[in-house]
Amino acid sequence: MCGIFGYLGPRQATSILLDGLRRLEYRGYDSTGIVIKNGSFEIHKKVGKVGELESVLPNRIEGTAGIAHTRWATHGVVSDENAHPHPSAKGKVVIVHNGIIENSRQLRTSLTVQGVDLQSDTDSEALAHIIERELSVDNDPEQAVRRTLRLARGTWGLCAMFLEHDVIVCARNGSPLIIGKGEGEMFVSSDPHALTPYTQRVVFLEDGEIATLTNDKMSLSTLKGKNFNPDITVLEENWGDSDLGEFPHFMLKEIYEQPDALRHCISGRLDRVRGNGRLGGLKLEPRDLAKVPHVRLLGCGTAYNAAEIGQLMIEKLARIPAVAHISSEFRHNDPVINPNALHFAVTQSGETADTLSAVKEIHLKGGSVYGVVNVVGSSIARECGKGVYIHSGPEQAVASTKAFSNMVAALSMFALQVGRSRATSKEQGREIINGLQEIPHLIEEYLEQQGPIHEAVDMVKNAKSVLFLGRGISAPVAKEGALKLMEIAYIPCLAYPAGEMKHGPIALLEEGSPVIFIAPNDHVKVKTISAMHECKARGAKIILIHEEGDDIASEADISISIPRVHPLLSPLLTVIPTQLIAYHTALALGCDVDRPRNLAKSVTVE
Ligand code: G6P
Repeated sequence: MCGIFGYLGPRQATSILLDGLRRLEYRGYDSTGIVIKNGSFEIHKKVGKVGELESVLPNRIEGTAGIAHTRWATHGVVSDENAHPHPSAKGKVVIVHNGIIENSRQLRTSLTVQGVDLQSDTDSEALAHIIERELSVDNDPEQAVRRTLRLARGTWGLCAMFLEHDVIVCARNGSPLIIGKGEGEMFVSSDPHALTPYTQRVVFLEDGEIATLTNDKMSLSTLKGKNFNPDITVLEENWGDSDLGEFPHFMLKEIYEQPDALRHCISGRLDRVRGNGRLGGLKLEPRDLAKVPHVRLLGCGTAYNAAEIGQLMIEKLARIPAVAHISSEFRHNDPVINPNALHFAVTQSGETADTLSAVKEIHLKGGSVYGVVNVVGSSIARECGKGVYIHSGPEQAVASTKAFSNMVAALSMFALQVGRSRATSKEQGREIINGLQEIPHLIEEYLEQQGPIHEAVDMVKNAKSVLFLGRGISAPVAKEGALKLMEIAYIPCLAYPAGEMKHGPIALLEEGSPVIFIAPNDHVKVKTISAMHECKARGAKIILIHEEGDDIASEADISISIPRVHPLLSPLLTVIPTQLIAYHTALALGCDVDRPRNLAKSVTVE
């Protein structure tokens, strides 16, 4: 989603800003822009990728201060005019903005009445004009931004530059902004990892804060005007390998990274002797866990699918009610929060606005939330203050793969931990631990022998739609498989619990309709197979993901076997063929696998 990268210092800014933009690319965007200050503002904006912006830039742009932006359209179509940066009417101010200004209609109307000629359809542009108007009051850039934001309603990660002042003023409310402090130079970015090649010393702005940057100084204050000292965080340099290496796409690379990512996730977190999980970041003792009345898990997209698997694992092992919620629905349904219950916010980026709002809603109502988060120091990790880092390393492809696996693994360790405080025996605990420790190796084994993935691709790539079915713990895997294929190959996909198929989706089946079944060796396999027969009887073609050595392979048109696995952990294996089918189908259809149209990796608007 929208990204910001800014620089102020002694070096030429353009190449630093373009490099910053490239590091933000993975988040998903549809247009880019850059402003360099060199006596005037030199602004260039372009629909398309960073490469397309580069192609319209003059060979050399002099200037040691600037801001760059990647836009993901919310208000106004994808066009050069609507791309950021946006200059003010008299050209004294230029801004980039992430987030949504909810009262932009009123602000735009009042500007029009004042005679301002708006150049774009965006909600953001109004801010540039109002800052310029406020600047004329006292010629104080920070105060001008402060007064402007008091008029705005909504969310912002905002950076403003001023023609007559050598500062960048930054402000955050609901949309991340991180200041990087170098030696005699300052950086600002919406993504901390874009800063690490330049500096590890950063300040995470919090909601309602403003930072005024010069080359060597940052002054921090609240929207109300209270000054405070910066709290500098030193980022880990070793976040992981974020280059493609020998792989053609990040998605394929990340699929193959799953065994190692899982090893990182479970390492040091399993207590073999006690048959228990050891998630220290939860700061929960067995006596606390024994009193938990219920568990609620929140997430969006892939994270929600992982949360559904977590829900089933927790109920199974701990015998307490657990339920997964779609974050974007949660807050608006005025949920009843029990302060003794446990809540988990499951998120790769830690920046998803819907999940962040759900966390805030729970906090507001006196509940506590634990993060299950990949990106260290992200907004949700900091808002929760406690939880589990899933340690997937950088995930760059929009379609999530290795983060999904690690979310499931982290939740399985929590399920074990809460289970051991209540209903799960030491022996059962040890079985799960053994199962978890084997998973990375089993995935490697499967990746060596993937089965007829390409036959499956041929079957789905020209289909009108694809139905994914699974039961029990495989129902969320079916959802995840369908989400992946839809996201990157743009094929309409439907996922249903297999038993529900006869109550609706069966109407879609025609001669040759592809149906993908997920049927590991668990207690619901027989029932899933009945659903498979019902589909076959109506002419459907079956792709079956099952465990090797079972007796059902011959019943499918295409069968893909995975190694034998502990029934509760089967999603960690069954999901892999669905990832590969999605990847190879997208490739066969000529789609942009890593950056599918319209989607964003980190969705920072509600
Ligand atoms: C976006 C992405 C999905 C992702 C979801 C949740 O919709 O396109 O791939 O699963 O956000 O992201 P999160 O960072 O919270 O896990």
